[in-house]
Amino acid sequence: MSAPSPAPLQMRLREPVSAITAYDYPSARLCDEAGIQLILVGDSVGMVVAGGEDTTGVTLGQMVYHTEMVRRGVKQGIVVSDLPINTYRDPAEALASSRQLVAAGADAVKLEGGFGQLEKVKAITSAGISFCAHLGMLPQRVREEGGYKKKGKTDIEAKTLVEAALALEEAGAFAIVLESVVATVAAEITRSLSIPTIGIGSGRDCSGQIRVLHDVTGAFPWFVPPFAKIHGDVAGVTRRSLAAYLDEIGSL
Ligand code: KIV
Repeated sequence: MSAPSPAPLQMRLREPVSAITAYDYPSARLCDEAGIQLILVGDSVGMVVAGGEDTTGVTLGQMVYHTEMVRRGVKQGIVVSDLPINTYRDPAEALASSRQLVAAGADAVKLEGGFGQLEKVKAITSAGISFCAHLGMLPQRVREEGGYKKKGKTDIEAKTLVEAALALEEAGAFAIVLESVVATVAAEITRSLSIPTIGIGSGRDCSGQIRVLHDVTGAFPWFVPPFAKIHGDVAGVTRRSLAAYLDEIGSL
């Protein structure tokens, strides 16, 4: 079977593409009402919601649960759900896991990686499931890599990223997240593709940007990645509201 045309979801994205993560009904609804085009049920839920050190503890059952919540909150935007680590070890598993996320309400699924994942991507897209790729820094591999490292620093790494992006487009991806890719390399990938690139820590010359909701709103004050610009003070509002509540009940 050949890969289906990525046109339907791709055509719903306008440049600059706006994308953000959400993990529950109220945050998804607020993102959707704000006009965010793509809402990612990211496996970053394992860090900013569950308090884990990285994303490697997230399960498919948890992603199904969070996808259901987000789906209920989103009327306009595209809902993409992450396949967590160890749920796409071969093409059959990738397809079965993707079907569970689609049944939970995802419009598309995302998994991390390039050439090593092509057969799995083809299994997903050939079954008619829309697919978003993820290249560059791959958080599910942070333990093997020994930290969050910039990608595309050497010529060979840059060339491999460009070629992997082209192969993923050919395999039917409708968009590609570029995480922590050297800005000039992300720009070259963007120029080489006809599908949009969605950058995070990869410079301004992508087709759009994605961020973790808690970084944008200031809801996770204990750690903020260096590239993230904080636009709100949810943690401060919460702390002040709790102090006012304690005061109200005479318990301050
Ligand atoms: O899980 C996530 O939040 C992501 C974004 C960082 C793109 O994959």
